[in-house]
Amino acid sequence: MDPKAPRAPSRLRLGVNIDHVATLRNARGGRHPDPLHAAMTAIGAGADGITAHLREDRRHMRDEDIARLKARISKPLNFEMAATDEMVEIALKTRPHAACIVPERREERTTEGGLDVVGQHNQIVPVVQKLKAAGIRVSLFIAADPAQIEMAAKAGAPVIEIHTGAWCDAVHDGQADVAQTEFRRIAAGARLAQQAGLEVHAGHGLDYVTAEAIAALPEIVELNIGHYMIGDAVFAGLDNVVKKMRVAMDRGRMVIKAAR
Ligand code: PXP
Repeated sequence: MDPKAPRAPSRLRLGVNIDHVATLRNARGGRHPDPLHAAMTAIGAGADGITAHLREDRRHMRDEDIARLKARISKPLNFEMAATDEMVEIALKTRPHAACIVPERREERTTEGGLDVVGQHNQIVPVVQKLKAAGIRVSLFIAADPAQIEMAAKAGAPVIEIHTGAWCDAVHDGQADVAQTEFRRIAAGARLAQQAGLEVHAGHGLDYVTAEAIAALPEIVELNIGHYMIGDAVFAGLDNVVKKMRVAMDRGRMVIKAAR
């Protein structure tokens, strides 16, 4: 083999976040649609892992969802959690493959910004230590900000996940200059993190276009994507579901014909 030949890039892992399957289920209560079924389907289709965020208010995932996912899925579970005693206790009981520590504010609709590892160092470091001691791979969800990246490395986390939300918003809003600045910030942050010995993941707000663009950054080894994929699954699957319902109704109608 030619030693100068470029190395094939390693496969970028896809973690599928299934929180919004639970959002839909909770809109009615009951069990349908089941996030575990979504996880199995995603894994069957090639997902490398499943991500689920148990929020303090349990607005989507519930405690039993996390337990069922851990017990049943065949790929790594990435447990998103706030740095609270309650969540640490659940993580230590569940022992997911990975835990991603995220900031959490009750009034937000989704995780709006990165974790402030610099400002909350004293709260975050013991959480990192407890999770690591239990063999859980810890990542910190942060903005691509050099001070946060350096502090994440000092805090002992082996992984960071770079928040891509501001970049994705700028791309969708057609703000080309902002998008370019944000993308450069992410690229520089990913390089800095890798130099600091961190494994680099990215996520938030990604769709097909932004996932393809960010996949070109060689330092990033994993993307976690949720809302867009679950939303697009509605469109990708709705025609099949309407056809299946038509068949079920027509089959039911045959009973009337047969009885005549
Ligand atoms: N990564 C982290 C740490 C997140 O908190 C979220 C949102 O829950 C995601 C990735 C996925 O973001 P989205 O649902 O916008 O794809």
